[in-house]
Amino acid sequence: MSETSAKPKILLVDDVEANLVALEALLANLDCDVVRTTSGNEALRLLLKHEFAVMLLDVQMPEMDGYEVAYFARDNPATRQVPIIFVTALHETKEHVLRGYDSGAFDLLFKPIDPYILRSKVQIFIELFLSRQRLQEEIDAHKRTLAEVEAFNYSVSHDLRAPLRPLDGFSEALLEDYGDKLDDKAKDYLNRIRSAAQRMGRLIEDLLELSRIGRVPVQRQPVDMSALVASIVAELRGNDPAREVELVCPPQAKVAGDPRLLRIAFENLLRNAWKFTRKHPRARIEFGQTPAAEATFFIRDDGVGFDPAYAGRLFRPFQRLHPSDAFEGTGIGLAIVDRIIRRHGGRIWAESAPEAGATFYFTLSG
Ligand SMILES: Nc1ncnc2c1ncn2[C@@H]1O[C@H](COP(=O)(O)OP(=O)(O)OP(=O)(O)O)[C@@H](O)[C@H]1O
Ligand SMILES: [Mg+2]
Repeated sequence: MSETSAKPKILLVDDVEANLVALEALLANLDCDVVRTTSGNEALRLLLKHEFAVMLLDVQMPEMDGYEVAYFARDNPATRQVPIIFVTALHETKEHVLRGYDSGAFDLLFKPIDPYILRSKVQIFIELFLSRQRLQEEIDAHKRTLAEVEAFNYSVSHDLRAPLRPLDGFSEALLEDYGDKLDDKAKDYLNRIRSAAQRMGRLIEDLLELSRIGRVPVQRQPVDMSALVASIVAELRGNDPAREVELVCPPQAKVAGDPRLLRIAFENLLRNAWKFTRKHPRARIEFGQTPAAEATFFIRDDGVGFDPAYAGRLFRPFQRLHPSDAFEGTGIGLAIVDRIIRRHGGRIWAESAPEAGATFYFTLSG
């Protein structure tokens, strides 16, 4: 919001100048700035120029009547939010009153106007406007903090990479150039230093990936998720041809999403399904949609599963429920998936039990 320091503005629209003067006088003791106009066209122009806490709109006006002004205001996303109070004659029929609400009125005031009712209603909209403004300021401040934290994470992760290279590189050089002078124990230590440096390198790469996913813009287009699932599973199969894994997948499940980000999310979910079914001689991976009202998709496997008490933790970075010697990984995959799903306006959750497989459900709205 741009006009945070100014007082809330009220727009008065009436073709009769005297009515405007009278209305303004009634609002004189409220803490707001009043803007007046006698024309519907001018009112629409003003709505685009300023943010108003409320518009008081006369119904009967020549050229463009109040209903039309309300209609155009509602039609434009930039002015849709402005609350409208219609000011109308007391002899109006119920039909007219309903038409007022249909065209977007928040409220109606009947002439002759009761000053007390007018002030009370306008005051409510001023308070609503101010609290919305405060909320928006808080959201903006949080967004700025979040962006700073993200930038900090990124630069720290980035800078942490540099000292790892000589650590790994010189350990390798020691092994190569002085290997004949070292006994097996010393070589083992050096190899351990190298593998720790490499593991830390992978963790940092994963952190950088997570940070990148939070910042790239989401570019939506139609995505055939079934085709995506089939192609990723085909790749997994190609890398691991000895496995017997059945894929169950509907012929077509289309959504509007960012194809690159969705591919990363599906790769992580399917790689997990592939990995955590590894101990079973035959496995089954299923992609599908539930009958829930909100489009909900799932990826299910019949692998080792996990204790459902920890289901909420999985989506946090570096949370792993299985020991590294049984299943490799850094524990960042689901944090990336969670971020991608949330950036699409959806959510993800998991259901499982030990040895009963796991199901990851997600929505993708927008
Ligand atoms: N399909 C699944 N079945 C059983 N457990 C799972 C499944 N998917 C995830 N998990 C559990 O959730 C943890 C976190 O998953 P995540 O994908 O984030 O990490 P990872 O697979 O261990 O490592 P990474 O994906 O970074 O290589 C896993 O370590 C595992 O304990
Ligand atoms: Mg994973």
